[in-house]
Amino acid sequence: MAGSVDVLAPDSSINGTTKSLSEVFNSKAFISDHVPLVAGENGIGKGEAQNGTENGERKIVLGKNIHTMCLEISEPDIDDEVTGEREAYMASVLAKYKKSLTERTKYHLGYPYNLDFDYEALSQLQHFSINNLGDPFIESNYGVHSRQFEVGVLDWFARLWELEKDEYWGYITNCGTEGNLHGILVGREVFPDGILYASQESHYSVFKAARMYRMECVKIDTLCSGEIDCDDFKAKLLCHKDKPAIVNVNIGNFLLLSHSLMHFLSPFLLWLLHINISGTTVKGAVDDLDLVIKKLEEAGFSHDRFYIHCDGALFGLMLPFVKRAPKVSFKKPIGSVSVSGHKFVGCPMPCGVQITRSEHVKALSRNVEYLSSRDATIMGSRNGHAPIFLWYNLNMKGYRGFQKEVQKCLRNAHYFKGRLVDAGIGAMLNELSSTVVFERPHDEEFVHRWQLACEGNIAHVVVMPNVTIEKLDAFLNELVQKREEWFRDGKCQPYCIASAVGHKNCLCAIHR
Ligand SMILES: Cc1ncc(COP(=O)(O)O)c(C=O)c1O
Repeated sequence: MAGSVDVLAPDSSINGTTKSLSEVFNSKAFISDHVPLVAGENGIGKGEAQNGTENGERKIVLGKNIHTMCLEISEPDIDDEVTGEREAYMASVLAKYKKSLTERTKYHLGYPYNLDFDYEALSQLQHFSINNLGDPFIESNYGVHSRQFEVGVLDWFARLWELEKDEYWGYITNCGTEGNLHGILVGREVFPDGILYASQESHYSVFKAARMYRMECVKIDTLCSGEIDCDDFKAKLLCHKDKPAIVNVNIGNFLLLSHSLMHFLSPFLLWLLHINISGTTVKGAVDDLDLVIKKLEEAGFSHDRFYIHCDGALFGLMLPFVKRAPKVSFKKPIGSVSVSGHKFVGCPMPCGVQITRSEHVKALSRNVEYLSSRDATIMGSRNGHAPIFLWYNLNMKGYRGFQKEVQKCLRNAHYFKGRLVDAGIGAMLNELSSTVVFERPHDEEFVHRWQLACEGNIAHVVVMPNVTIEKLDAFLNELVQKREEWFRDGKCQPYCIASAVGHKNCLCAIHR
């Protein structure tokens, strides 16, 4: 039937069960006269039809998501050009949209996006269709490109991860996911019969890559912190000794600067160097790269029998040079590193960086005569604006600027976690992370308002440079007030989060 869709039960993305939607989806029902306004106005965020909740549970609808509003495209009237009516309508739509974006930007805490940036200087470039299709290092026939900026950014990252200019290959991706898809594809091309190993708390893009490339994938258990359980890793490696290993390692959290840049670091960061580190998506955990390599060696995998892709998407630009942390460097036997550009850096469009060894990329690149370039990327056309934004940002801030922002985020995250616990709310913060994990709020409207990311009984706030103490305080005060309402008559209790973050971090009725 046209327009009918399946509904995923909550959590069913994990077990794959589906049930049918009772009603036929009717997009028109969601088209208001004009545009979606600010949360709360126009009913947005309220009522089942608008926020897609039923009995407080949010539904995920495959194909057509019922949370999505639609701004219809209509045919211009014959006299529109004369009356200017259409132009006025468009202007009003955009003005309202801008207002809504401003408002939603204020209430965002759950995703690791730095929403604080100023790229006004680059607005002059929006009139150009800048496209870096093909290989960053081989100019194609399309001249409206930004390869010079792209290579500048890539050089910066290659230096960071200690790979010589003539030994690396990389490109600016659309996002961290593309970096993972590329890194794992390179691994698969190097070892066509390799098995992919990833901790079960790895980002979903890693498992998507396994499905896309039809690779055998072995999930590894995690510790309470979210870090890969290396004993389980070794045990599973030993079961598949006959096949090469392609390993996804979550490095999440830190920016690794060369030793010569150490003197830029403040005492505060140096103090942090001595604490356990922790960049998985939900808990902000970092896998111990050195231990992963050790376990591979112990299991009898020589360096020519494994490929390691390091997923640094989450906070890949966050912690400059962490001395006792497993250092990410191409001096170690790793194959690729990826990072998201729109996260800690902050960028109006999603983007990312992928760096690999030039010897590896040969395995997947092909010449394309039509481009007069080489194809080794996942996408064809590539956003040529993104490299300019990254280039601009890295130049403007420099290492010192990032260092200051990192310090602020870590301080604010510790402050926030402390306040949660003081308010009797179970919470966990991996030491060098700015992802604060806590009990899932009981009200989906509240979750939606603050744009929290939730999984099972836990939610998290990722403290990014734009998340101020004032914002955290406002959030906490509202949460405390709401909890009083939710738990007032004793009908419901705070969720137990012990299985996700450990007993000591849980303040439910049993573990308090
Ligand atoms: C650990 C990790 N890897 C990969 C990704 C995907 O990054 P992106 O959203 O840039 O595609 C994320 C996103 O949060 C992440 O946390």
